[in-house]
Amino acid sequence: MIKEVKGMKDIVAPEANSWEELRGIASRIFSSFSYDLIITPILEKQELFSRSVGEDTDVVTKEMYTFIDRSGEKLALRPEGTASIMRAYFSNFDSRSKVLKAWYWGPMFRHEKPQKGRYRQFFQFGLEAVGTDSPYIDSELIYVLDSFYKHIGIKDFEIEINSIGCKNCRPKYKNELVTFLRNNKSKLCETCAKRIEKNPLRVLDCKNDVCQKVIINAPKIKNYICDNCSSHYRKVLFSLNDLNIEYKENPYLVRGLDYYVKTVFEFVSKDLDGRQNALGGGGRYDELSSSLGEKTNVPAVGYAGGIERMFLVLENKNLDTYKKIYIAFLDEETREKYVNFIIKLKNFFAFSDKKVQIIDEGYKVLNAKKHLSKADKLVCSYAIIAGKEELKKSELVLKDLYKRKEEKIKIDIKNLDKTFSKILGGIVFE
Ligand code: HAM
Repeated sequence: MIKEVKGMKDIVAPEANSWEELRGIASRIFSSFSYDLIITPILEKQELFSRSVGEDTDVVTKEMYTFIDRSGEKLALRPEGTASIMRAYFSNFDSRSKVLKAWYWGPMFRHEKPQKGRYRQFFQFGLEAVGTDSPYIDSELIYVLDSFYKHIGIKDFEIEINSIGCKNCRPKYKNELVTFLRNNKSKLCETCAKRIEKNPLRVLDCKNDVCQKVIINAPKIKNYICDNCSSHYRKVLFSLNDLNIEYKENPYLVRGLDYYVKTVFEFVSKDLDGRQNALGGGGRYDELSSSLGEKTNVPAVGYAGGIERMFLVLENKNLDTYKKIYIAFLDEETREKYVNFIIKLKNFFAFSDKKVQIIDEGYKVLNAKKHLSKADKLVCSYAIIAGKEELKKSELVLKDLYKRKEEKIKIDIKNLDKTFSKILGGIVFE
Protein backbone atom coordinates (compact mmCIF):
# COMPACT_ATOMS: atom_id res chain seq x y z
CA MET A 1 0.00 0.00 0.00
CA ILE A 2 1.18 3.54 -0.71
CA LYS A 3 2.35 5.18 2.51
CA GLU A 4 1.54 8.69 3.78
CA VAL A 5 4.01 11.53 3.16
CA LYS A 6 6.83 11.75 5.75
CA GLY A 7 5.92 14.03 8.65
CA MET A 8 2.19 13.95 7.85
CA LYS A 9 -0.32 11.76 9.61
CA ASP A 10 -3.93 10.67 9.64
CA ILE A 11 -6.02 11.68 12.61
CA VAL A 12 -8.54 8.91 13.23
CA ALA A 13 -11.21 8.25 15.88
CA PRO A 14 -11.22 8.39 18.83
CA GLU A 15 -8.47 11.07 18.55
CA ALA A 16 -10.30 12.79 15.69
CA ASN A 17 -13.44 13.04 17.85
CA SER A 18 -11.41 14.75 20.56
CA TRP A 19 -10.13 17.21 17.95
CA GLU A 20 -13.71 18.06 16.97
CA GLU A 21 -14.66 18.51 20.61
CA LEU A 22 -11.70 20.81 21.17
CA ARG A 23 -12.58 22.81 18.07
CA GLY A 24 -16.10 23.25 19.47
CA ILE A 25 -14.74 24.50 22.80
CA ALA A 26 -12.38 26.88 20.99
CA SER A 27 -15.22 28.19 18.87
CA ARG A 28 -17.44 28.88 21.88
CA ILE A 29 -14.77 30.62 23.94
CA PHE A 30 -13.23 32.64 21.11
CA SER A 31 -16.64 33.72 19.79
CA SER A 32 -17.50 35.05 23.25
CA PHE A 33 -14.45 37.29 22.99
CA SER A 34 -15.82 38.51 19.62
CA TYR A 35 -13.42 36.57 17.40
CA ASP A 36 -15.35 35.23 14.37
CA LEU A 37 -14.30 32.14 12.44
CA ILE A 38 -12.39 32.86 9.24
CA ILE A 39 -11.53 30.28 6.60
CA THR A 40 -8.75 31.26 4.21
CA PRO A 41 -7.27 29.17 1.35
CA ILE A 42 -4.50 26.70 2.12
CA LEU A 43 -2.65 27.84 -1.02
CA GLU A 44 -1.41 31.41 -1.28
CA LYS A 45 1.01 33.28 -3.51
CA GLN A 46 4.55 32.50 -2.42
CA GLU A 47 5.49 36.15 -2.01
CA LEU A 48 2.79 36.65 0.61
CA PHE A 49 4.99 34.67 3.01
CA SER A 50 8.42 35.72 1.79
CA ARG A 51 7.47 39.39 2.23
CA SER A 52 5.79 38.98 5.62
CA VAL A 53 7.42 36.10 7.48
CA GLY A 54 10.79 37.29 6.10
CA GLU A 55 13.15 36.38 3.23
CA ASP A 56 15.87 35.20 5.62
CA THR A 57 13.78 33.20 8.05
CA ASP A 58 14.06 29.39 8.30
CA VAL A 59 10.37 29.12 7.40
CA VAL A 60 10.88 30.86 4.05
CA THR A 61 14.41 29.72 3.13
CA LYS A 62 14.24 26.09 4.22
CA GLU A 63 10.76 24.98 5.14
CA MET A 64 8.12 26.35 2.81
CA TYR A 65 6.44 23.96 0.36
CA THR A 66 6.48 25.90 -2.89
CA PHE A 67 5.61 25.02 -6.47
CA ILE A 68 4.70 26.55 -9.79
CA ASP A 69 1.14 25.72 -10.84
CA ARG A 70 -0.10 24.93 -14.36
CA SER A 71 -0.57 28.60 -15.17
CA GLY A 72 2.97 29.44 -14.10
CA GLU A 73 2.07 31.05 -10.79
CA LYS A 74 4.46 30.65 -7.83
CA LEU A 75 2.39 29.26 -4.96
CA ALA A 76 3.03 28.03 -1.43
CA LEU A 77 1.24 25.72 0.97
CA ARG A 78 0.69 28.09 3.88
CA PRO A 79 3.35 27.68 6.60
CA GLU A 80 1.31 29.84 9.01
CA GLY A 81 -1.94 31.82 9.13
CA THR A 82 -1.13 35.41 10.02
CA ALA A 83 -0.05 36.66 6.59
CA SER A 84 -3.21 35.17 5.07
CA ILE A 85 -5.39 37.00 7.59
CA MET A 86 -3.74 40.31 6.77
CA ARG A 87 -4.25 39.62 3.06
CA ALA A 88 -7.89 38.66 3.73
CA TYR A 89 -8.43 41.91 5.63
CA PHE A 90 -7.50 43.92 2.54
CA SER A 91 -9.32 41.54 0.16
CA ASN A 92 -12.62 41.70 2.05
CA PHE A 93 -12.99 45.12 3.66
CA ASP A 94 -12.95 48.55 2.07
CA SER A 95 -12.69 50.48 5.29
CA ARG A 96 -9.23 50.58 6.86
CA SER A 97 -10.82 51.57 10.14
CA LYS A 98 -12.58 48.24 10.48
CA VAL A 99 -11.41 46.01 13.29
CA LEU A 100 -11.32 42.37 12.21
CA LYS A 101 -11.18 39.88 15.06
CA ALA A 102 -10.87 36.44 13.51
CA TRP A 103 -10.02 32.95 14.70
CA TYR A 104 -9.01 29.98 12.57
CA TRP A 105 -8.13 26.33 12.77
CA GLY A 106 -6.43 24.35 10.03
CA PRO A 107 -3.41 22.62 8.58
CA MET A 108 -0.08 24.41 8.05
CA PHE A 109 2.94 23.02 6.21
CA ARG A 110 6.65 23.27 7.00
CA HIS A 111 9.35 20.97 5.64
CA GLU A 112 11.07 20.40 8.98
CA LYS A 113 12.82 17.37 10.44
CA PRO A 114 9.88 15.35 11.81
CA GLN A 115 10.09 14.50 15.50
CA LYS A 116 7.81 14.45 18.53
CA GLY A 117 5.84 17.72 18.47
CA ARG A 118 7.23 18.75 15.07
CA TYR A 119 5.58 17.63 11.84
CA ARG A 120 5.48 18.66 8.18
CA GLN A 121 1.72 18.99 8.20
CA PHE A 122 0.54 20.24 11.56
CA PHE A 123 -2.57 22.03 12.75
CA GLN A 124 -2.79 25.42 14.33
CA PHE A 125 -5.60 27.37 15.89
CA GLY A 126 -5.07 31.08 15.79
CA LEU A 127 -6.61 34.39 16.79
CA GLU A 128 -5.85 37.66 15.03
CA ALA A 129 -7.11 41.16 15.77
CA VAL A 130 -6.42 43.41 12.78
CA GLY A 131 -7.01 47.17 12.75
CA THR A 132 -6.33 47.99 16.40
CA ASP A 133 -3.24 49.18 18.26
CA SER A 134 -4.88 48.96 21.68
CA PRO A 135 -2.66 47.32 24.32
CA TYR A 136 -5.85 46.01 25.90
CA ILE A 137 -6.38 43.76 22.89
CA ASP A 138 -2.92 42.27 23.59
CA SER A 139 -3.83 41.60 27.22
CA GLU A 140 -7.33 40.36 26.37
CA LEU A 141 -5.76 37.93 23.89
CA ILE A 142 -3.39 36.55 26.52
CA TYR A 143 -6.28 36.34 28.97
CA VAL A 144 -8.55 34.35 26.61
CA LEU A 145 -5.72 31.95 25.75
CA ASP A 146 -4.92 31.42 29.43
CA SER A 147 -8.61 30.70 30.05
CA PHE A 148 -8.85 28.33 27.04
CA TYR A 149 -5.79 26.25 27.96
CA LYS A 150 -6.84 25.98 31.60
CA HIS A 151 -10.40 25.03 30.64
CA ILE A 152 -9.26 22.08 28.52
CA GLY A 153 -6.99 20.83 31.29
CA ILE A 154 -3.58 22.29 30.41
CA LYS A 155 -2.35 24.06 33.52
CA ASP A 156 1.41 23.54 33.69
CA PHE A 157 2.48 26.33 31.38
CA GLU A 158 4.28 29.63 31.66
CA ILE A 159 3.50 32.79 29.73
CA GLU A 160 6.70 34.48 28.61
CA ILE A 161 6.46 38.05 27.41
CA ASN A 162 8.73 40.74 26.04
CA SER A 163 8.68 43.88 23.93
CA ILE A 164 10.96 43.91 20.89
CA GLY A 165 10.36 47.54 19.92
CA CYS A 166 9.56 48.89 16.48
CA LYS A 167 11.36 50.00 13.35
CA ASN A 168 12.29 53.27 15.04
CA CYS A 169 13.93 51.90 18.16
CA ARG A 170 15.10 48.42 17.16
CA PRO A 171 18.02 49.44 14.87
CA LYS A 172 19.86 51.04 17.81
CA TYR A 173 19.44 47.86 19.83
CA LYS A 174 20.51 45.73 16.88
CA ASN A 175 23.76 47.67 16.64
CA GLU A 176 24.49 47.14 20.33
CA LEU A 177 23.62 43.45 20.03
CA VAL A 178 25.80 42.93 16.96
CA THR A 179 28.77 44.55 18.74
CA PHE A 180 28.21 42.30 21.75
CA LEU A 181 27.84 39.17 19.61
CA ARG A 182 30.92 39.95 17.51
CA ASN A 183 32.92 40.18 20.73
CA ASN A 184 31.60 36.76 21.75
CA LYS A 185 31.56 35.11 18.31
CA SER A 186 34.03 32.34 19.24
CA LYS A 187 31.74 31.21 22.09
CA LEU A 188 28.64 30.81 19.89
CA CYS A 189 27.47 27.72 18.00
CA GLU A 190 28.31 27.58 14.30
CA THR A 191 24.80 28.60 13.15
CA CYS A 192 24.64 31.59 15.48
CA ALA A 193 28.13 32.75 14.53
CA LYS A 194 26.80 33.00 10.96
CA ARG A 195 23.59 34.71 12.11
CA ILE A 196 25.37 37.70 13.72
CA GLU A 197 25.45 39.85 10.60
CA LYS A 198 22.23 38.67 8.91
CA ASN A 199 19.75 38.08 11.71
CA PRO A 200 21.31 38.85 15.11
CA LEU A 201 18.00 38.75 17.02
CA ARG A 202 17.59 35.07 16.15
CA VAL A 203 20.74 34.31 18.19
CA LEU A 204 18.70 35.18 21.29
CA ASP A 205 16.31 32.38 20.34
CA CYS A 206 19.02 29.66 20.21
CA LYS A 207 18.41 26.82 22.65
CA ASN A 208 22.00 25.55 22.40
CA ASP A 209 23.70 25.54 25.85
CA VAL A 210 26.85 27.31 24.64
CA CYS A 211 24.80 30.15 23.18
CA GLN A 212 22.58 30.37 26.25
CA LYS A 213 25.70 31.09 28.37
CA VAL A 214 26.51 34.05 26.11
CA ILE A 215 22.93 35.31 25.77
CA ILE A 216 22.44 35.85 29.52
CA ASN A 217 24.92 38.73 29.33
CA ALA A 218 23.57 40.24 26.10
CA PRO A 219 22.06 43.76 26.15
CA LYS A 220 18.33 43.74 26.86
CA ILE A 221 16.03 45.20 24.23
CA LYS A 222 13.72 46.57 26.92
CA ASN A 223 16.37 49.16 27.77
CA TYR A 224 16.42 50.48 24.19
CA ILE A 225 12.76 50.73 23.19
CA CYS A 226 11.18 54.12 22.44
CA ASP A 227 8.60 55.87 24.63
CA ASN A 228 5.73 54.72 22.46
CA CYS A 229 6.74 51.03 22.64
CA SER A 230 7.56 51.34 26.32
CA SER A 231 4.19 52.90 27.16
CA HIS A 232 2.38 50.19 25.16
CA TYR A 233 4.31 47.45 26.98
CA ARG A 234 3.64 48.97 30.41
CA LYS A 235 -0.10 49.09 29.67
CA VAL A 236 -0.14 45.43 28.59
CA LEU A 237 1.66 44.34 31.77
CA PHE A 238 -0.52 46.55 33.96
CA SER A 239 -3.65 45.08 32.43
CA LEU A 240 -2.34 41.50 32.85
CA ASN A 241 -1.58 42.20 36.51
CA ASP A 242 -5.06 43.56 36.99
CA LEU A 243 -6.53 40.47 35.31
CA ASN A 244 -4.47 38.27 37.67
CA ILE A 245 -2.59 36.62 34.82
CA GLU A 246 0.75 35.21 35.86
CA TYR A 247 3.50 35.85 33.35
CA LYS A 248 7.27 35.88 33.20
CA GLU A 249 9.13 38.69 31.50
CA ASN A 250 11.81 37.15 29.29
CA PRO A 251 14.08 39.99 28.09
CA TYR A 252 15.53 37.71 25.40
CA LEU A 253 12.27 36.41 23.94
CA VAL A 254 12.23 37.00 20.19
CA ARG A 255 10.19 35.10 17.63
CA GLY A 256 11.27 33.14 14.57
CA LEU A 257 9.21 35.23 12.14
CA ASP A 258 10.22 38.72 11.02
CA TYR A 259 6.95 40.63 11.23
CA TYR A 260 6.79 41.21 14.98
CA VAL A 261 6.99 44.58 16.75
CA LYS A 262 6.29 45.64 20.35
CA THR A 263 4.63 42.81 22.33
CA VAL A 264 5.78 39.22 21.76
CA PHE A 265 4.73 36.29 23.92
CA GLU A 266 4.77 32.51 24.13
CA PHE A 267 2.87 29.89 26.08
CA VAL A 268 5.55 27.43 27.15
CA SER A 269 4.64 24.02 28.53
CA LYS A 270 6.68 22.30 31.21
CA ASP A 271 5.42 18.96 29.88
CA LEU A 272 6.81 19.32 26.35
CA ASP A 273 10.35 18.46 25.15
CA GLY A 274 12.97 21.25 25.20
CA ARG A 275 13.01 22.52 21.63
CA GLN A 276 9.34 21.84 21.00
CA ASN A 277 8.10 23.24 24.31
CA ALA A 278 6.01 26.11 22.92
CA LEU A 279 2.29 25.47 22.96
CA GLY A 280 2.09 28.55 20.81
CA GLY A 281 3.33 32.06 20.28
CA GLY A 282 2.29 35.42 19.00
CA GLY A 283 2.59 39.13 19.23
CA ARG A 284 2.03 42.45 17.43
CA TYR A 285 2.66 42.90 13.74
CA ASP A 286 1.81 46.58 13.23
CA GLU A 287 4.18 46.90 10.26
CA LEU A 288 3.19 43.76 8.35
CA SER A 289 0.69 45.46 6.03
CA SER A 290 3.32 47.88 4.73
CA SER A 291 5.72 45.02 3.97
CA LEU A 292 2.91 43.62 1.81
CA GLY A 293 2.79 46.87 -0.16
CA GLU A 294 0.10 48.92 1.66
CA LYS A 295 0.74 52.65 2.07
CA THR A 296 -0.54 52.80 5.63
CA ASN A 297 0.19 50.40 8.42
CA VAL A 298 -2.78 48.58 9.86
CA PRO A 299 -1.85 47.62 13.41
CA ALA A 300 -2.57 44.04 14.49
CA VAL A 301 -1.88 41.41 17.12
CA GLY A 302 -2.38 37.66 17.17
CA TYR A 303 -1.40 34.21 18.34
CA ALA A 304 -1.22 30.67 16.98
CA GLY A 305 -1.09 27.45 18.97
CA GLY A 306 -0.15 23.95 17.82
CA ILE A 307 -2.98 21.40 18.08
CA GLU A 308 -0.75 18.29 18.13
CA ARG A 309 1.28 19.79 20.98
CA MET A 310 -1.89 20.40 23.00
CA PHE A 311 -2.74 16.73 22.70
CA LEU A 312 0.81 15.72 23.65
CA VAL A 313 0.40 17.67 26.88
CA LEU A 314 -3.07 16.24 27.44
CA GLU A 315 -1.46 12.80 26.89
CA ASN A 316 -3.97 12.14 24.13
CA LYS A 317 -6.80 12.45 26.65
CA ASN A 318 -10.12 11.49 25.12
CA LEU A 319 -12.22 14.67 25.00
CA ASP A 320 -15.01 12.98 23.05
CA THR A 321 -18.23 13.67 24.98
CA TYR A 322 -20.55 11.46 22.90
CA LYS A 323 -22.24 8.70 24.92
CA LYS A 324 -21.56 5.55 22.97
CA ILE A 325 -24.25 2.89 22.65
CA TYR A 326 -23.37 -0.39 21.04
CA ILE A 327 -26.06 -2.12 18.98
CA ALA A 328 -25.97 -5.91 19.30
CA PHE A 329 -28.18 -8.02 17.02
CA LEU A 330 -28.11 -11.66 18.07
CA ASP A 331 -29.74 -13.24 14.99
CA GLU A 332 -30.62 -12.43 11.38
CA GLU A 333 -34.39 -12.28 11.79
CA THR A 334 -34.23 -9.74 14.63
CA ARG A 335 -31.79 -7.65 12.63
CA GLU A 336 -34.16 -7.60 9.61
CA LYS A 337 -37.07 -6.48 11.80
CA TYR A 338 -35.18 -3.97 13.97
CA VAL A 339 -32.53 -2.41 11.78
CA ASN A 340 -34.70 0.44 10.46
CA PHE A 341 -35.85 1.16 14.01
CA ILE A 342 -32.18 1.69 14.92
CA ILE A 343 -31.59 3.92 11.87
CA LYS A 344 -34.55 6.08 12.97
CA LEU A 345 -33.26 6.06 16.55
CA LYS A 346 -29.95 7.48 15.29
CA ASN A 347 -31.90 10.26 13.59
CA PHE A 348 -33.81 10.97 16.81
CA PHE A 349 -30.52 11.30 18.72
CA ALA A 350 -29.07 13.49 15.97
CA PHE A 351 -31.81 16.06 16.58
CA SER A 352 -32.00 15.76 20.35
CA ASP A 353 -29.99 18.07 22.59
CA LYS A 354 -27.92 15.13 23.89
CA LYS A 355 -24.76 13.77 22.30
CA VAL A 356 -25.31 10.07 21.66
CA GLN A 357 -23.56 7.88 19.12
CA ILE A 358 -24.81 4.43 18.16
CA ILE A 359 -21.90 2.18 17.26
CA ASP A 360 -23.16 -0.37 14.73
CA GLU A 361 -20.03 -2.14 13.40
CA GLY A 362 -21.94 -2.74 10.17
CA TYR A 363 -24.95 -4.29 11.98
CA LYS A 364 -23.10 -7.59 12.23
CA VAL A 365 -24.92 -10.56 13.81
CA LEU A 366 -22.80 -12.17 16.57
CA ASN A 367 -23.40 -13.97 19.84
CA ALA A 368 -23.86 -11.85 22.97
CA LYS A 369 -20.40 -12.58 24.36
CA LYS A 370 -18.61 -11.47 21.19
CA HIS A 371 -20.77 -8.36 20.92
CA LEU A 372 -20.09 -7.34 24.51
CA SER A 373 -16.37 -7.82 24.15
CA LYS A 374 -16.44 -5.55 21.06
CA ALA A 375 -18.53 -2.98 22.96
CA ASP A 376 -15.92 -3.06 25.72
CA LYS A 377 -13.05 -2.47 23.27
CA LEU A 378 -14.93 0.42 21.66
CA VAL A 379 -15.44 2.05 25.09
CA CYS A 380 -19.22 2.01 24.86
CA SER A 381 -21.19 2.93 27.97
CA TYR A 382 -24.39 1.15 26.95
CA ALA A 383 -25.53 -1.64 24.64
CA ILE A 384 -28.87 -2.19 22.98
CA ILE A 385 -29.30 -5.94 22.76
CA ALA A 386 -31.94 -7.59 20.57
CA GLY A 387 -32.42 -11.29 19.87
CA LYS A 388 -35.28 -13.78 19.42
CA GLU A 389 -36.58 -13.34 23.00
CA GLU A 390 -36.87 -9.57 22.59
CA LEU A 391 -38.38 -9.86 19.09
CA LYS A 392 -41.14 -12.16 20.41
CA LYS A 393 -42.13 -9.58 23.05
CA SER A 394 -41.54 -6.58 20.76
CA GLU A 395 -38.94 -5.11 23.11
CA LEU A 396 -35.21 -4.60 23.43
CA VAL A 397 -32.68 -4.55 26.23
CA LEU A 398 -30.78 -1.40 27.20
CA LYS A 399 -27.76 -2.49 29.20
CA ASP A 400 -25.57 -0.18 31.27
CA LEU A 401 -22.14 -1.69 30.62
CA TYR A 402 -20.46 -0.06 33.62
CA LYS A 403 -23.10 -0.70 36.26
CA ARG A 404 -24.01 -4.05 34.62
CA LYS A 405 -27.71 -3.18 35.01
CA GLU A 406 -30.28 -3.70 32.30
CA GLU A 407 -33.71 -2.40 31.45
CA LYS A 408 -36.30 -3.85 29.06
CA ILE A 409 -37.88 -1.30 26.76
CA LYS A 410 -41.17 -2.00 24.98
CA ILE A 411 -41.29 -0.85 21.35
CA ASP A 412 -44.42 1.15 20.62
CA ILE A 413 -44.74 0.83 16.82
CA LYS A 414 -47.48 3.48 16.68
CA ASN A 415 -45.43 6.01 18.61
CA LEU A 416 -41.75 5.49 17.90
CA ASP A 417 -40.73 8.86 19.31
CA LYS A 418 -42.12 7.78 22.69
CA THR A 419 -39.92 4.65 22.57
CA PHE A 420 -36.91 6.69 21.48
CA SER A 421 -37.49 9.11 24.37
CA LYS A 422 -37.65 6.16 26.76
CA ILE A 423 -34.28 4.92 25.53
CA LEU A 424 -32.83 8.41 25.88
CA GLY A 425 -34.32 8.61 29.38
CA GLY A 426 -32.51 5.38 30.31
CA ILE A 427 -29.12 6.91 29.59
CA VAL A 428 -27.34 8.74 32.36
CA PHE A 429 -25.40 11.84 31.26
CA GLU A 430 -23.12 13.09 33.99
P1 HAM B 1 4.93 29.95 15.25
O1 HAM B 1 5.67 30.18 16.53
O2 HAM B 1 5.74 29.69 14.03
O3 HAM B 1 4.01 31.22 15.05
O4 HAM B 1 3.93 28.75 15.42
C1 HAM B 1 3.00 28.75 16.47
C2 HAM B 1 2.88 27.37 17.07
O5 HAM B 1 2.58 26.39 16.06
C3 HAM B 1 4.16 26.80 17.70
O6 HAM B 1 4.37 27.34 18.98
C4 HAM B 1 3.84 25.32 17.75
O7 HAM B 1 2.97 25.03 18.83
C5 HAM B 1 3.09 25.13 16.44
N1 HAM B 1 4.03 24.65 15.40
C6 HAM B 1 4.86 25.37 14.62
N2 HAM B 1 5.55 24.57 13.79
C7 HAM B 1 5.15 23.31 14.05
C8 HAM B 1 5.48 22.01 13.50
N3 HAM B 1 6.36 21.87 12.51
N4 HAM B 1 4.88 20.92 14.04
C9 HAM B 1 3.97 21.05 15.04
N5 HAM B 1 3.59 22.23 15.57
C10 HAM B 1 4.18 23.34 15.09
C11 HAM B 1 3.17 31.40 13.99
O8 HAM B 1 2.89 30.55 13.20
C12 HAM B 1 2.55 32.77 13.96
N6 HAM B 1 1.68 32.86 12.79
C13 HAM B 1 1.79 33.04 15.24
C14 HAM B 1 1.09 34.38 15.23
C15 HAM B 1 -0.22 34.60 14.99
N7 HAM B 1 1.65 35.55 15.44
C16 HAM B 1 0.75 36.50 15.34
N8 HAM B 1 -0.40 35.93 15.04
